[in-house]
Amino acid sequence: MREILIKPELHKFKTFEEFAREISLKKGDLVLTNEFIYTPFMKESRLDCAYVFQEKFGAGEPSEEMIADIWSAVGEDSYTRVVAIGGGAIMDLGKLLSLKRTGSVHDLYFKKAEVVKAKPLIAVPTTCGTGSEVTNISVAIVRDEAGKTTKLGLVSDLLIPDAVCLIPALLKTLPFQPFAASAIDALIHGVESYLSPSRATLTSELFGVRAVELILEGFRRIGDGGPDARFDYLDEFITASCYAGIAFLQAGCATVHAMSFPLGGTYHVPHGESNYALFGKVLEKYDAIKPDGKIADFKKLIARILGCDPENALKTLAALEERILHLKPLREYGFTKEDIGLFADSVLQNQQRLVVNSYVPLIRELIVEIYSECY
Ligand SMILES: NC(=O)c1ccc[n+]([C@@H]2O[C@H](COP(=O)([O-])OP(=O)(O)OC[C@H]3O[C@@H](n4cnc5c(N)ncnc54)[C@H](O)[C@@H]3O)[C@@H](O)[C@H]2O)c1
Ligand SMILES: [Fe+2]
Repeated sequence: MREILIKPELHKFKTFEEFAREISLKKGDLVLTNEFIYTPFMKESRLDCAYVFQEKFGAGEPSEEMIADIWSAVGEDSYTRVVAIGGGAIMDLGKLLSLKRTGSVHDLYFKKAEVVKAKPLIAVPTTCGTGSEVTNISVAIVRDEAGKTTKLGLVSDLLIPDAVCLIPALLKTLPFQPFAASAIDALIHGVESYLSPSRATLTSELFGVRAVELILEGFRRIGDGGPDARFDYLDEFITASCYAGIAFLQAGCATVHAMSFPLGGTYHVPHGESNYALFGKVLEKYDAIKPDGKIADFKKLIARILGCDPENALKTLAALEERILHLKPLREYGFTKEDIGLFADSVLQNQQRLVVNSYVPLIRELIVEIYSECY
């Protein structure tokens, strides 16, 4: 087993100013961010670098069109280093800006163009979810062969940022709903990598378990003290999501992500929420189909953290999550009965990199059952 433990340098700073000084943010640097993050945290520093605001190119998660528009607005030779400061969407767009433009965006995602790194990339997450700051994936909404939109991950170790800078204070302006959705996404990264049947490494479990512990302790505090309880725990949340990213970079995500991608791609459900909509049911199925594998250890782990019996672990976990974010049936996101079969086909056709990591074989029948029961 060969393991690249952590490729990027990891830093933690108290303020944006401290970060800017340390990395010598300057002319030639391209800072990709949102104006509503720039204004409270960066504007005052009056630095000479170029700022590009994602929202000028469309709202929401990255799509082929959005990336193509950013490429045409920002010349390939107009910058020497990329600094991505934002949520997972910004991180993933930053990854594309760090590449040589060897083909169209579509060609890159469908593996028809070569991935060639052109510029150094510094990643500064402002949500506590995706772990994208340490991973080798960039996710975008694309049109597949049938012309349907779905989400696809472009995977290459060349996408791993060169440096990760955690600045917990940047999370202060993140509203509670996207905060909660991103924290649940990180929890799912920790869990999917923990249950990964064949790709676990020497350290993936270490990082995954610590991420789950930190996030659930945060959820317990918010459950007891209300949403504002997160403000004393932002450092732990952003550290946990980075740990969960390190865990799934090694061990991989699985069923939850595979099944949530068509949902996110078609109905523009935020990534963390679309995962959450499927997460509890997927764990239930894992437990019913193969109760004496790693899921038994997982239930013991949850029981230890939450102080319950292993038999009640999945229910207790779901009840705690419900106190953070209300679980909605898929139909409330626009999902229809016809989507059950269509999405099942899309998962098997487009998400094999995730399907292969499923804790139990992810056959079509099981996918249909999970979508139907979440409908
Ligand atoms: N590359 C990977 O490894 C990986 C893994 C999982 C998910 N993803 C991708 O990441 C994206 C989801 O990322 P996310 O959950 O971080 O959501 P996001 O980037 O979409 O951000 C959620 C919302 O919060 C806003 N926001 C972010 N930081 C803020 C702040 N500090 N203050 C105020 N508002 C703020 C954003 O503008 C957005 O409206 C999806 O596109 C998903 O596919 C990538
Ligand atoms: Fe995720």
